[in-house]
Formats: sequence, C-alpha cells, structure tokens
Amino acid sequence: MIKDEFKIFDNLEDLSKGFTDFVKEILAENKHVNVSLSGGSTPKSLFDYWAKNEKGLEWKNLSFFWGDERCVAPDDEMSNYGMTKKHLFDHVEVPVENIHRVLGENKPADEAIRYASELDRLLEKKNGIPSFELMILGLGDDGHTVSIFPYEINLWDSKENCIVAKHPESGMERVSLNGAMVNNAQNVVFLVTGKNKAEKIRDIVKNREAFYNLYPAARVNPRSQKIYWFLDKEAASLL
Ligand code: 6PG
Repeated sequence: MIKDEFKIFDNLEDLSKGFTDFVKEILAENKHVNVSLSGGSTPKSLFDYWAKNEKGLEWKNLSFFWGDERCVAPDDEMSNYGMTKKHLFDHVEVPVENIHRVLGENKPADEAIRYASELDRLLEKKNGIPSFELMILGLGDDGHTVSIFPYEINLWDSKENCIVAKHPESGMERVSLNGAMVNNAQNVVFLVTGKNKAEKIRDIVKNREAFYNLYPAARVNPRSQKIYWFLDKEAASLL
C-alpha cells in the first residue's frame, strides 16, 4: 500500500525552502546523495532559489543525474542539462565530476545504452539494479513522468533501465529512465506546481488503480512504499 506524504506550500519560494530542508535531511543520513533531476518549470524555480540562497550547501556531497533528457545539444534551449547549468551550476560550486548528464547530442539508442552503463557503474545497487538516493519527478499535464508518455506507457516496464521515448506532439526523442529505476530510488519525490496539475494529482492519489494504464505517473510505486508530494496550494487544490 503506497503512503502518500503531502507537503503543501503557499508559493514557490516556500516550496523550494521546504524541499531544501528535505534534501538536507537526506544529506545528514547519507555520505553522498545521488540525485535524479527532472526538467520542467518547478525545478527551474528551485534551482533559482538554490543559486540565490544555498551557495553554502554541501554541493560536493551531491551528484546530479537526469531522469530524462531531450535529445538535443547541451546548449539547446530544450536541454534539461542546459537549463540546470544556466539556473544552478553556473552559480554554485558543484564539482564537475559530480555532474553526469545524458549526452543529448549522441544517437539516442546508443546514448540510452551508455547512460544505463554509467548508472550501473556509479550507483549503489539495491535489488540488483542501481538505486538513486533521491529521485525528483515532475508531472506532465497529460500524466507523464520522466519521459514516459501515456501513449508509450509500456516503456515503463521496459527491461532496459534507460529507454528512448518520443514526445507525442513534437516527435522529439528523449532518453528516459524506466519504471524499475524510478521505483528503485530510496526517496521518491514529485515536485509539482500549478492549477493545471490539480486534477491529475487527485486522480492519481485517490484512484491510482483506475489510472494505472492511463498515466505513467500512476505507476510510480517505490519499493519504499512512500511518495513525497511537494506541491503548491494550486496543485493541491483538489485533494
Ligand atoms: C521534461 C520532464 C517532464 C516534466 C513535466 C512537468 O523534461 O519534460 O522532465 O517530466 O517534469 O513535464 O513539467 P512542468 O513542471 O514544466 O509542467
């Protein structure tokens, strides 16, 4: 039985602060924390908050990976790495060796294999597969998470830890973690803001089984049995 733990904030600044306290708790419990980041607007404002207020965080004890990346060059404005660099890495002292980006400029199928082997090499294994200490997830308006979209929901159960997905409208390819990798993380967090996410959050939290085949985000079911939801009050408005 999944336990959903909600942390609801009045605004983005408070959410960023609350999430930072959560990261600090995880840092206190672990010598090193491997974080899987997501793209999207909520992480962007979190990174701005960190750049402004958290220069003194123990950045050397954090390593950054991505749950998904668009298959573009790192300086393309669609790149999740590029966004993180611009909003975070250019402002705080994360050692370069702690940054493990998906090489979006590579051939997607080759990169999915390369990234999976990098995860295999660098992360501690639990249950036979690599395990992040912290998995940050976004939630798309259509119920997608990482880059597994509803129309490709079967990719969730792929045997490969990293897969190639395609955005349903733009057709842009993306390299993404599969469901097993998401669910094998030690702390799984959805960071979601905005009114347009409220219905999906309600559907998932209140009626997970009914949406299991519709929304990839409804398949998030960590081995820890716990999902943390960091939400603003608009996103939480239908709970
Ligand atoms: C991406 C994502 C994706 C994102 C959601 C939410 O690269 O597109 O990682 O899963 O987190 O689409 O995005 P917003 O916060 O912008 O709504």
